[in-house]
Amino acid sequence: MNYRHAFHAGNFADVLKHWVLLLILERLAAKPKPFFVLDTHAGAGFYDLAREAAGRTGEAAQGIGRLLADRASAPQSLDPYLDAVARLNAGEPALRWYPGSPYLIAERLRPQDRLIACDLQPDEHRALRETLAPFPRAKALNGDGYAAAPSMLPPPERRGLLLIDPPFESRTEFEAVAKAAARAHKRFPQGATLLWHPIKDPAAVDAFRAALPRPAGGLAAVDLAVAAPRRDGPMTACGLTLLNPPFGVTAQVEADLPALAERLASGPGAGGRVEWLAPPA
Ligand SMILES: C[S@@+](CC[C@H](N)C(=O)[O-])C[C@H]1O[C@@H](n2cnc3c(N)ncnc32)[C@H](O)[C@@H]1O
Repeated sequence: MNYRHAFHAGNFADVLKHWVLLLILERLAAKPKPFFVLDTHAGAGFYDLAREAAGRTGEAAQGIGRLLADRASAPQSLDPYLDAVARLNAGEPALRWYPGSPYLIAERLRPQDRLIACDLQPDEHRALRETLAPFPRAKALNGDGYAAAPSMLPPPERRGLLLIDPPFESRTEFEAVAKAAARAHKRFPQGATLLWHPIKDPAAVDAFRAALPRPAGGLAAVDLAVAAPRRDGPMTACGLTLLNPPFGVTAQVEADLPALAERLASGPGAGGRVEWLAPPA
């Protein structure tokens, strides 16, 4: 495996994932009861967009860069996300630092909350450990996030979020995510789950979603295309699948996704879609 998220940090897929992630965390933090987050495929957690990897692809410029360039016109629900990125870049002449999911989560932990973030690659894990060092309620693990998940669920907190965001380099990744989500749902049926995946072959995504459990809190699909999905070449569309999304999250995403899709569009076929595959009981 040679996936490096540094090449993609801050691209349109990160924008969608990190926006929705923060909406979920906001809802979890609305109650004083503690919550637990497990980020199975965490990455390094912090990226320098001025370094070669990010510079070579220029993906951040087409993602977070576009939103920050015209902040005033962005939907308000993006504020927690855009504020987080802007805070990191205060004093920089141009966008330079980009937070990964574990950093965004760790920043939001209250003294009663917990994060465990996992990465399989030793060098990514080393960077992750450094990223999380200032956050006493966050822990970095080196290992297979799929294998680690069952032993941590259900968490003693009995509320929280499972984030599964793999690199999708392997043909069997959809199966692995579906299996992990089903296993996690059995152990922690009330937990919120956020799954990220590319959309290259929409039929494969439909089959993946059809195989997922239908939790009492509902199963929702969120898709974003910056151009029509295509099987080959760079990714132009991606999706999130949410199990038990906290109340209000999908409605907020549905309201603001068209405006986001418009800002990130790069070609014909751009757009966004939110659908309940199984509504909350
Ligand atoms: C898409 S990146 C994660 C990005 C991160 N979630 C974010 O939003 O900032 C996927 C990461 O998964 C890691 N990885 C790949 N297979 C893994 C596995 N089986 N368990 C844990 N991590 C894995 C890779 O090293 C890579 O850093």
